[in-house]
Order: sequence, then C-alpha cells, then structure tokens
Amino acid sequence: KKVVLAYSGGLDTSAIIPWLKENYEGCEVVAFCADVGQGEEELVGIQEKAIASGASECHVVDLKEEFVKDYIFPIVKTGAVYEGQYLLGTSMARPVIAKAHVEVALKVGADAVCHGCTGKGNDQVRFESCFAALAPQLTVIAPWREWDMVSREDLLDYLAERDIPCSASLTKIYSRDANAWHISHEGGELEDPWCEPTKEVWTMTTDPLDAPNEPGSVMLSFDKGELVSVDGKAMSAYESLVYLNEKAGAHGVGRIDIVENRLVGMKSRGCYETPGGTVLMAAYKGLESLILDKESLKFRESVALEYSHVIYDGRWFTPLAKAQMAATNSFAEQVTGDVVVKLYKGQANVTQRRSPNSLYSEEFATFGADDVYDQKHAEGFIRLFSLSSRINALKQQEK
Ligand code: ARG
Ligand code: SIN
Repeated sequence: KKVVLAYSGGLDTSAIIPWLKENYEGCEVVAFCADVGQGEEELVGIQEKAIASGASECHVVDLKEEFVKDYIFPIVKTGAVYEGQYLLGTSMARPVIAKAHVEVALKVGADAVCHGCTGKGNDQVRFESCFAALAPQLTVIAPWREWDMVSREDLLDYLAERDIPCSASLTKIYSRDANAWHISHEGGELEDPWCEPTKEVWTMTTDPLDAPNEPGSVMLSFDKGELVSVDGKAMSAYESLVYLNEKAGAHGVGRIDIVENRLVGMKSRGCYETPGGTVLMAAYKGLESLILDKESLKFRESVALEYSHVIYDGRWFTPLAKAQMAATNSFAEQVTGDVVVKLYKGQANVTQRRSPNSLYSEEFATFGADDVYDQKHAEGFIRLFSLSSRINALKQQEK
C-alpha cells in the first residue's frame, strides 16, 4: 500500500504520517506539498520535516503560475463572489491542488490519497469531489473522520510518544489558509460572531487606519478579458497578482469579516484578506460596465451567482462549470481596455475606464441638447412598456 498525503508541515499533517503507517499495515507515505503562493515561511525545510516525520519522499510542486493563470483569472472573468462578499480564496485553490495531488499519486503508483481536512468543513468535499472527477480509482483517506484525537494537545502527545520532532505550539490562535490570492482566518475567538477581530488577526493588509493619507492608484489593462499589464508593465499572471497585493495591501484594501453558509450545512465566521483580488475584480467589473449591454450583464451576473456556488462547493471539474466558463469567455471576448482604480484607506474604487468596445456614448447620454435621441420617442416606448399595467388597472376599475 502506498498513499500520497497532502502535507503542509503543520501539526495535523505531521501527525497523519505516523498515524497512516500504524493504521494501514505496511503503508508507505509519500508527502505532497503544493506551492500556491502561501509564502516561503510555510515551505522552508518542508522536505526534511516530512522525512523526519516518516514520509519516504516529499514532492513540492510549484503551482503558482498555473493557479493564477488557469484558475484565478478565469474565475475573475465570471464575476463569482460567494454570498455577496467572499472572493473564494480558499475554494479557488482546491482544484489546482487536487489535480497536482492526483498527478503525484499516479506518478508514484499510489493506491490512495490522504488529506488533513476536518470532517466538518468545505475542504474535504472540494478535494474529494476533484479526486472523484480525476481519478475515481484512488481510495481517499481522511484521518480526521477516523481517529479520535480532538485537540492540538492530543496531536502533540501523539507525536511526542513517537519521538517525532515538531515545532508546533500548544496554542495556535487561528486556523489560517494562505495562497497567492488570499488568506483566511477562522477559529479561536473569531468563533464568536460578536467578537470584533483584533489587529493581530490581519496579516496581508495594513490597517486602513494606518494606511497612507494620500490615495494610491493603479492601472490595469485587459485584452479580451486577459490582464495584460499593470501600471503599464507586462508581467506574468502570478507576478501581477503579487504586485497588486503589495500595492492594495498597503492601502488596507480587501478585508472582509463575514458569517458564511458552509456546504455541509453549518454557518461559520471567517475573516479574509484579498487585497489584489479586490482591485482586480473591481477593475474587471468597471470595464465590463462600459461594454456589456443590459441583458448581457444581467445574464453574466446570473452566471456569477451560479459560479460562486460551483467554486465554493468544489465542482470545478464538471460539465456545468465548463458550460458556465464557455458563456463567460464569450462575454470576455469584448472585455478590452484600461481601468484605473484608486486605493484609499481600505477602499478600491474605479475612477477611470476606457475601451475600444465601449457602448458608452457621451452623445447619447448627455443631458444637453443632442440630435441622436428624440425625446418624443420615449412616450410611445413607455406606453407599450407599461401596457400590461394599464390594462390591469382599467380592469380593476371596471369591477
Ligand atoms: N471558509 C472558507 C472556505 O471554505 C475558508 C476555509 C479555510 N480552510 C482552511 N483549511 N483553513 O473557503
Ligand atoms: C477544515 O475543516 O478542514 C477547514 C475549514 C473548511 O474546510 O471549511
């Protein structure tokens, strides 16, 4: 038996390695670690750590460019935002991680994959739905649903009894998940929705109160829906996101504090930081507003709503997601132009936009005299537009 474990170097997955070897007879554990831009701190020395915990090998896979280019940017084009606020940072990363996980499993000839998600969360569903779509023959092992350890103390004891080194401390305040797009903070005192997050919660953005008194601004240029340059500089997908995070984060942009509905039915409270993403979403929507007509935009918004659930619920590798992406790309064909976003004390607002495909016309929209729109034509339009109301009211009066 050979199992590939999604390993983070944290306490939970460090305990999973010996646990697998003890509970699955003769089982070899291969560690897999996805680099989705979570930062160096989480990755330094991870290979040695995995081996010290008992893994036979450790594969660190760099997914940064692929994640941003093939997952994040396409999702931005759909406009997906979960429950009106959450920019889906954790959810977006699951498919690319699951895909690389499966690839390692197939490469090393494993018969099982294992993850450290709890049995109460969304992530277990997302990962396992991706595994099912990509390699249904692999067995899935989810230790949190099997063992009876419940606390960090239990896990630390478990490692200490086996003389496995671990630098984790007894108290870990928040459960965090970071990648190139965002960081999430859950747990600890945040479990009380009446408890305001302290300064210590936030890690990716400056407190808006401490942000510069002078606004910043950033220009994003798109070609057929693709981000092609930022502030006039062409950069790779990942580099442009890093650049946007830096710039927007300094102005305290992208913090949210929400209560959300998990897929498994319960509500949970989370604080999220998505600085660059907030700017990118605002810019894209700002450009679309020049280009898409009323009915197209309404449909694109309905796709955004549906797609937010597709992503949140882990349905990336499905025909539905593919169809929605095709509709999105059809609109995106027209999304070419430049947008300027002003950054100021936690706010990111579009202040300038232009596009060769703009349907906006000052000649049509002007409140001054014009010769392209005859105001008399509005009268007949309104008569017909409201005809059913008129008929209804007349019928009522007859009674
Ligand atoms: N609640 C968010 C989501 O479901 C964040 C989850 C964070 N995941 C984690 N393993 N810490 O997308
Ligand atoms: C977990 O339960 O593993 C993290 C939170 C979530 O997936 O919703």
